[in-house]
Amino acid sequence: MLVVIGNKKEELKKDGFQNLINGYENVVLDIGTGDGRFVYKKALENKTNFYVGMDPAEKQMEIYSKKANRKRLKNCLFIVGSVNNIPPELFSCINKIYINLPWGTLLENIAKGNVNFAEKVHNLLKKDGVLEIIFGYLPELEPSETKRLGLPDISEGENINQILSSFKKLFEIEEMRELSKKDIGNIETTWAKKLKHGRDRRIYKIILRKKS
Ligand SMILES: C[S@@+](CC[C@H](N)C(=O)[O-])C[C@H]1O[C@@H](n2cnc3c(N)ncnc32)[C@H](O)[C@@H]1O
Repeated sequence: MLVVIGNKKEELKKDGFQNLINGYENVVLDIGTGDGRFVYKKALENKTNFYVGMDPAEKQMEIYSKKANRKRLKNCLFIVGSVNNIPPELFSCINKIYINLPWGTLLENIAKGNVNFAEKVHNLLKKDGVLEIIFGYLPELEPSETKRLGLPDISEGENINQILSSFKKLFEIEEMRELSKKDIGNIETTWAKKLKHGRDRRIYKIILRKKS
């Protein structure tokens, strides 16, 4: 797999990844990590877990990869990848997956309830693994993205149920709620900090547990 270390990229072998995660209580993956702030903050807070940030936009990840290097954090890694191109080393290794405020094809997979996507994230997780998704959009604020991707109107409960139903075969639904602006401000990601000061929009949090 291709990893971002500061402003460089390196190839990491399969056993290299296994060696890095060895001995940690949990391996946590942040899909669509953006600049990697969430992974950096979590890794600083909790040294018993190993945090992996994945995003196709490798340049963005340099920001928090450099900070992690400066702090000599050993429990985090930034990798180049997307849901359409997941490094095979990650499968069956992950205890928890976060997807925070996705856009593009990542958002499309979720909002359209893509069953193939649900299967992929299921296969990334270990037994009893958890998937936490925070997502939302407003057709008035993101007209081009909503139209281009053909996203459903998520103010309709029926459409939210449709999204959940794509996960039901493989996951137990542990939580599903709309977040307040205060909740959004408490999410430790760069995008959440931007939304905190923007217009109100529907943002949902879904927590799913892998069925065995
Ligand atoms: C709005 S940003 C959010 C970034 C970060 N999670 C945050 O909250 O600050 C959405 C991210 O999703 C990433 N993304 C888009 N399509 C993706 C895909 N197919 N797989 C993984 N990440 C994707 C983008 O590169 C971008 O960094």
